[in-house]
Formats: sequence, C-alpha cells, structure tokens
Amino acid sequence: MIDLRGQYTSIRSELDEAVARILAGGSFILGEEVAAFEREFADYCGASYAVGVGSGTDALRLALSACGIGAGDEVIAPSHTAVAVVVAIEMTGAHPVLVDIDIARYTLDPQQINQVLTPRTRAIIPVHLYGCAADLDPILRLAHRKNLYVIEDCAQAHGALYHGRQVGSWGDIAAFSFYPTKNLGAFGDGGAVVTNNPVLSERVQLLRQYGWKERYISSIKGMNSRLDELQAGILRVKLRHLDEWNARRKALASHYFNLLANTELVLPAQPHADGHVFHQFAVRHPRRDALREYLKQQGIHTLIHYPVPIHLQPAYANLGYAADSFPNAELTAREILSIPLYPELSEENINLVSQAIIDFFNQ
Ligand SMILES: Cc1ncc(COP(=O)(O)O)c(C=O)c1O
Repeated sequence: MIDLRGQYTSIRSELDEAVARILAGGSFILGEEVAAFEREFADYCGASYAVGVGSGTDALRLALSACGIGAGDEVIAPSHTAVAVVVAIEMTGAHPVLVDIDIARYTLDPQQINQVLTPRTRAIIPVHLYGCAADLDPILRLAHRKNLYVIEDCAQAHGALYHGRQVGSWGDIAAFSFYPTKNLGAFGDGGAVVTNNPVLSERVQLLRQYGWKERYISSIKGMNSRLDELQAGILRVKLRHLDEWNARRKALASHYFNLLANTELVLPAQPHADGHVFHQFAVRHPRRDALREYLKQQGIHTLIHYPVPIHLQPAYANLGYAADSFPNAELTAREILSIPLYPELSEENINLVSQAIIDFFNQ
C-alpha cells in the first residue's frame, strides 16, 4: 500500500545531506531546523504560524488545550475517523460528542451539528479524511454564530484545497500529522499545529515544552511534545517535493477514475475537484470483503480505513452510543476499501489493480 523505501531512494542524496548536516551540527531539540521548517510549513499552508510537535495526536491535543478546552467541555467530531481524534479530546478532559458523516465525502456532516449542541459545546473538529476537505463553509458559519472553535484535522490532507485555498488555514487552528505514511511524512513521529492567531500559536509553543517561556520557569502547566531536529530537517526536504507528489497522486487517481468508471464500485466524490490529494483512494461496495479477498489472491494488498466506527469501539462504550446511531459511518465501515495509490506506484500497477477489480465483478 506504500513504498517508503522507493520514496527515500528517489530523494536519497538530499535526505542524506540533511541528516549528515544535522548530526554534525550537534543540536537535536528545538534548534534551527525546527524553526526553519515551522516558517516553511506555515508559508506552505498560507498561515501565519506553525509549531512543530511530537505527533498528530499531540497536535490535536495541544490545539484543544490552547483554545482553553478541558474538563466539562464538549467537542464535536465525526464517528468515522482515526481514533486519535477522540484520544486527543479525552486527553484534555473534555467529552467527545460524535456525529455522522456525509456519505459522499466521508467527512463530518454539517447538518448533524445543530442536534448535538449544548451550552457546554466549545469546538468542532472537521477531519479532512482520505485527502478530501470537509465541507467547511456551513461548519464555519455555524461555529461563528455559536462562538465555537473550529479545529481542522489535516493529518490526511497536506496540500488539500477547499475552494482553492489550503486546508489548515480556514479554522481557528489546525493539526497535522507527519506519521511516515502521510502525504508529508517524517522518518518517525511528528506533527504540527498551524494557525493565524498569534495568541493560540504562543500558547502551543508554551504547552509543548513544560510551559517554559524562559528555560526552567513554567509560566503555565505544559508537557513535552517537541518535533525533533532530525525529523524537521527530513520534513524540510520532503516539503519541497510535496506538490509534485500530490500531483502524481491526482494523476494516478484520475487513471483509476477512468478505468473503474463502469464498475459497480462507489468511487471517491470530488466535491472540490482539484483540491483532493488522495491520501487514500477509498472505494465502497457491499461485497467489500469478497473483493478484498479476491485482490489478496492476486497479490494486491488493500486496507480498511476504518473497520469499526469510534462509537462502536470497545474502548469507547463509555460514550454511550448504540449500534445504528450513525448509519452512514456504520455503512462506510462495512463497505469501504482503500486500494493502492502512492506517488511511486506505476500506471501499469494501476492498470493491474483495475483489471483485477473488473475481473472480480465479471466472474
Ligand atoms: C485523521 C487523523 N487524525 C489524527 C491522527 C494522529 O496522528 P499521529 O499518528 O501522528 O498521532 C491521524 C493519524 O493516524 C489521522 O489519520
């Protein structure tokens, strides 16, 4: 499903040079590489500030904390997403309130928000899933009216556009993950918080390192969640290639759209046509499991993102949702399948995967 070694090989000399420079420099935590990456990544996102942190989960958690969200507060999030979203909400002491997804985009359905608002609601987390921007306009309008924070989860959407503008620059604050398999991935864990708000940016900077403004003096209670110099140096190199890699993902995706158009599969919607960066190429079909098994027999690996919605995960029984609470999230969990798509994949392999899918439906 991904070829990280192939990616490394394609830009090996640039990466090796960066790693050698950082090792020789002898500075490994919050030095020049992190500061430079933060400037470059903020510019890339069209935002004023980026703060490098330890992971995407931490980025969400620190963004929530910077907004002053904690015990007694409620935060709205989609039920079909990476579990990290509710992990981060609960880490702050706040309560996750889940809603169903829009079945076309697989992202938070704005129509569902009104029904779950309470006086304790403080924020909404739209997750830009699979590389597709959530429908932000109605979410931002409602948040503005109700005085709620919008915290964009951009972990799967580096470089994705909404109405022609980068995700991560629309809400109050945004969280990115640099987990190795992401469109922009480090060689370990990493994340960033992005915002146009100087107060929120400064709070995240304090929170990520013990609340220190001045070394060893905690002005607020913080934690340790820092992007390290090596990862920042690697990310600086990879950031230079992100647009070209995303363009390649889009080209391969349009190849799939052409080849699979006449099959029974539900293909990804492209509501913001050029803005989708295809972190995953997620298709849907009621016979998903049989299709997956058939492809496996042909040596084609696939993944299910995600097999169980958050509200039905054993660990989140405490949230009190029954089966059938969110029909679209549950249908998606039963039918969704991510088929191979990454920049190093050849058109020939896209042809092979597509032909195997066509054969499955013709047998
Ligand atoms: C949508 C989403 N949010 C948050 C995260 C958490 O990122 P990380 O794995 O870097 O903590 C991920 C990655 O798994 C993700 O896909």
